[in-house]
Formats: sequence, C-alpha cells, structure tokens
Amino acid sequence: MKLILIGYMGSGKSTLGHALAEVTKLPFSDLDAVIEEQEAMTIAELFKTKGEIYFRKKEAEYLSKLINAPDNQILALGGGTPCYGNIMEMLCSHPNVKTVYLKGGVDLLTDRLWDERAKRPLIAHIESKDVLNDFIRKHLFERTYFYNQADRILDIGELSLSELTERIVFELF
Ligand code: S3P
Repeated sequence: MKLILIGYMGSGKSTLGHALAEVTKLPFSDLDAVIEEQEAMTIAELFKTKGEIYFRKKEAEYLSKLINAPDNQILALGGGTPCYGNIMEMLCSHPNVKTVYLKGGVDLLTDRLWDERAKRPLIAHIESKDVLNDFIRKHLFERTYFYNQADRILDIGELSLSELTERIVFELF
C-alpha cells in the first residue's frame, strides 16, 4: 500500500510521515524533497528560475513514478499536488493507494506558516499576518474540493502528532 498524506502547507505532512515511517517501518518520501534532489535545486529556486508551471509538471511526473513503483511506502505530497491536473482522481482510483487529508483551520495554518513563509514561494512575499490569513482563507477554500476527496480526513487542531499517528496506523494498517 502507498499511504499518501495531503493537506495545505504547514499541515505537518512531513512530520507525520516521518512518525508513521518509524512506527510502520515503511520507507517515507517527501515529494518536495524528491523534486529538490532530482532537479538539484530548492523549490524556491525552481519557482524562480523555471516557473510554477514547470514545477507542477515535475510534481506530477515524480509522483507518477513513486506511485507506480512496486514497494509499499508513505508519501507526503506538496500542498498543491492533489489540486492540479487529474492527480486527485488518479489517487482516488488507484487500487493500492490510501489518502489522508490533514485538515487544519485558517488561523492555525496562519500561525504555523507565518515564520516559515520564506521557503514557500507562494507566500514568501506576504508582508503581514492579516494578509497571510486572507490569502490562506481563499486558497484553502479553492483547494478543499480536492482535499475532501481523501479516504480519511483528520483534524490537526484536535489531535496531537502521536494521536494522528496512532489513528492512521489503527485505521489503515
Ligand atoms: C505548495 C506547497 C509546498 C511546495 C510548493 C507549492 C503549494 O509544499 O510544494 O511550495 O502549492 O501549496 P508544502 O505543502 O510541503 O509546504
């Protein structure tokens, strides 16, 4: 099985992915990290030099390779990955894939992302926390349609990291 973690930037996909990998002993990959390694560039540099469309193409390409590899694994996607092309449709119809949406509220995500926005090209330019809050509210609204198609939805505001890990292991393994 491929366990795929999806959710907005700052929802803790990578942190949870590492925790799950430790408990299940399955390998963990972070799609952003795979892209950075393969393209020999940070995500911020990729956006700057090649543009977002190039990034989205690469995202779909590397995801497809990972999904079609035979091994079981845990995979964290980028916040936008399931919202482009037919990616969410492909994940939902894949017999060997389970998706989990880490759902967070706008205020929680704003708090988490404010100090970390520099490395995220979509929000790096935002200069005040209120503007960031507005941006996330609109952006999350657009993306929720895709995120809500996940097999499981877990609220990151209600569950600790160990509770999230336990819940997923109990329900999906
Ligand atoms: C993006 C999220 C980022 C990264 C890129 C674009 C998005 O990943 O893929 O900056 O469109 O939401 P994280 O969700 O891991 O921050």
